[in-house]
Formats: sequence, C-alpha cells, structure tokens
Amino acid sequence: MVSRKKILLVFGTRPEAIKMAPLIKVLLEEKEDFEVKVCITAQHREMLDQVLDFFEINVDYDLNLMKKKQTLFDITSNVLLGLEKILEDFTPDIVMVHGDTTTSIVASLAAFYKHIKIAHIEAGLRTNNLQSPWPEEANRQITGVLANYHFAPTDVSKENLVKENKDSKNIVVTGNTVIDALFLALDKIKKSKTLELQMEQQILDFGYKINKDRKMILVTGHRRENHGQGFINICEALKEIAEKNSEFDIVYPVHLNPNVQKPVKEILSGIDNVYLIEPLQYEQFIYLMDKSYFIITDSGGIQEEAPSLGKPVLVMRDTTERPEALEAGTVKLIGTDKNRIIQETQKLIDDTITYKNMSKAHNPYGDGTACNKIVNFLLKENIDE
Ligand code: UD1
Ligand code: UDP
Repeated sequence: MVSRKKILLVFGTRPEAIKMAPLIKVLLEEKEDFEVKVCITAQHREMLDQVLDFFEINVDYDLNLMKKKQTLFDITSNVLLGLEKILEDFTPDIVMVHGDTTTSIVASLAAFYKHIKIAHIEAGLRTNNLQSPWPEEANRQITGVLANYHFAPTDVSKENLVKENKDSKNIVVTGNTVIDALFLALDKIKKSKTLELQMEQQILDFGYKINKDRKMILVTGHRRENHGQGFINICEALKEIAEKNSEFDIVYPVHLNPNVQKPVKEILSGIDNVYLIEPLQYEQFIYLMDKSYFIITDSGGIQEEAPSLGKPVLVMRDTTERPEALEAGTVKLIGTDKNRIIQETQKLIDDTITYKNMSKAHNPYGDGTACNKIVNFLLKENIDE
C-alpha cells in the first residue's frame, strides 16, 4: 500500500482559521491519501476559538502563545521555537500556511529549516509596498519565496507570482477559500428560520437589536499601520457621521487588540446610534453583513466577502492587494483622513446612484470550490519529488 501523505496545517488568527476551515473539511474526506493534522499557534485566542467552535475543527497541536499586547518579536520567536518540536514529532511531508500573518511567515520558515515542502494558500496578493499593509506585505512576499506550491485566488495573483519567476506549474488559480467558508455559513443560515431568530437574539445579547426600519452601517478595523493617529481619525469621523445621520445605526464589533479598543471606546462610547460590540461569531457577522446598508472597514477578508453579498465597502486604507473588487466598483479605497472618510460616507448615504452602482453582487474571489481545487492538485502532485 502506498503510504499516506502527511499534511500539517498551521494557522493562528481569526481570518486564517475562517479560510482554512473549509479546506480542513475537504482534506479530511481524503483519508486514504492524506493523514491530516491541525496546529494552531493561537496568535489569537478568543477570536480564533470562536471560529474553531463554529466550524467544529479538532486541533492536534496548540502553541497557545497569545499574550496581551504581544509584539512581533514575541509571536515570531514563540512560533518558531514551538513548531520545531511539532515538526519533529509529526514529520509532515507538507506544511500548509495561509496568507500573510506572522504565523504564516514563521511557520513557512520553520518548515523550510526542516526541508519540508510548503503550500501557500491565498498566494500572490501584492501591493508591492512593504509599508502597506505592514507587516503583511513582507510576510506574504517572503512566504512566497519559501513556498513550493502557490494556491492563488485569482488570475491577477497568479500573474504577480509569474512576474516573480515562480514556476507556473506550481501555481494554481483556485478562487479564495473565504468564499467556500461564506457559502457554508450562508447555507446554514438560509436552511433554518430558527437559527436566524437565534442569531438575532445572540446579536441582541452582544448589545445590538436588528431593526429593519433603520439602515445600518457595519464597521470593523484593526490594521497595524492605522494604530495611533489613523484610529483617532477613523473614530472622530465615525462620531461626526453618527451625529449628522441620526436615522442610521453604526454597528462596530471591536477587535480585541488594545491599540484598537482604547481609541474606539474613548471616542465612540455613549453615542446613541453607535453600537460598540464584541467580535462576533462568524455566522453572526455574515448575517449582520447581509443586513447592513454598507460597510466601512480596513479588513482584507471583508473586501472579499462583501461583493458576494452585494454590499458596498469603503476601505480605510491607501493601498489594496485585492484590486478585483475595486475594478468591479463594489469597493472604494478612502484612506484614513478624517474629512475624506466623512465625505465618502456621506456621499454613499445621500447619493442613491453611487450607492446603486456599488451594490451589484458579484464573485471576483471564487465560486466556493477553491478547497476542492487545492485538494485535487495535491492528490495529483507527487510531493516526494
Ligand atoms: C493579526 C495579524 C493581521 C491580521 C489580523 C486579523 C500579524 C502581524 N497581524 O493582527 O495580519 O489581519 O490578525 O485580525 O500577524 N487579542 C486578544 N484576543 C484575540 C485576538 C487578539 O486579546 O483573540 C489582542 C491581544 O492583546 C493581542 C493583540 O490583540 O496581543 C494583537 O494581536 P496580534 O495577532 O498580534 O495582531 P492583530 O492586530 O490581531
Ligand atoms: N469577522 C468575524 N467576526 C467579526 C468581524 C469579522 O467573524 O466580528 C470575520 C469576517 O467575516 C472576515 C474575517 O473575520 O472573514 C476578517 O478578519 P479580520 O478583519 O480580523 O482580518 P483580515 O481579513 O483583515 O486579515
């Protein structure tokens, strides 16, 4: 009997878990070909555990490294040292990493040091500006240098890799696994009216009552390059928008990073139509996204999910590695200047034509089959070579 390939998936933050979860499910179906183990670094803790619960993911190794106010040095050194023992214990044939976090780059480096092949999911996204997003652009470029297999979500991301002289036989365009995750969540929500009522209650428990007679703007933000003055600008802008538009609700599930919590709570607490709530379970967040009028964010994943739901997104960043939705017109980059955020938001509130043009549903990031494409490639590929 041919021996099964040993695959270790390593991830650590909320978005990596959301995007790896459907892949784990598909890989586990191929028991005859693959022995699959999951290692979490727990670069995030509560926000990661929420996703593991929702997708019912069993974890084989947990580095449990998150500390309050951790630095990049903390995460980097703890992931590297923690993974050494795990790689020696399981001796995988292939390590799968996702995207552009510190967990991703360090797990790739650990696998490289042990001469283990690396598969990079969500490969080839580029701004080509190492300062934006920081440190993610460097993380994804370096992971790309170390990786043997590149699963690119779109043709644009494949082209970026080809330009960097990666061998095109090892680049596969798959769509983004976030759409697989989104479809799983939407399917679950649509199948059950009881679940819908349950989620409305859970969101109410978090502090927001969904009201179909009021329009709602959903906000998230966490980027490191926006910490400090960027977040102060964002919050002051949101305050002014809320005060000028009392017929709108602003709902903001606040990221647990203290650099985000502090300015958000200081500037936005106590405003009647601003709801600061805790990070939501994935399905609740998707549900809220679907109920929103539009979204203001600096998140990467939300730029990918929102076009499928036909929701306009104003992105509080100067660059994006996701030009597809920008070109299609559902996403607009607005930076972090206070007046610009106010102006662009007010335009979307007041100008119904602009709103309509940005609300067309489309799926530039895939059709929900990315995980099957990745697994099909691995089934065919001789990863011993
Ligand atoms: C990280 C990633 C970023 C990704 C983001 C997704 C890096 C350098 N950054 O940024 O690329 O877009 O996750 O959200 O890899 N915290 C908690 N509980 C949690 C999660 C975070 O309390 O469940 C707090 C802790 O105080 C922690 C801090 O947030 O120290 C920062 O977490 P960290 O992973 O270092 O940075 P993020 O801003 O979350
Ligand atoms: N998300 C969630 N709960 C929330 C806010 C966001 O489950 O309260 C999901 C969202 O649907 C998306 C992902 O988290 O899939 C985005 O994560 P984040 O913005 O933290 O990271 P990024 O995508 O910017 O790396």
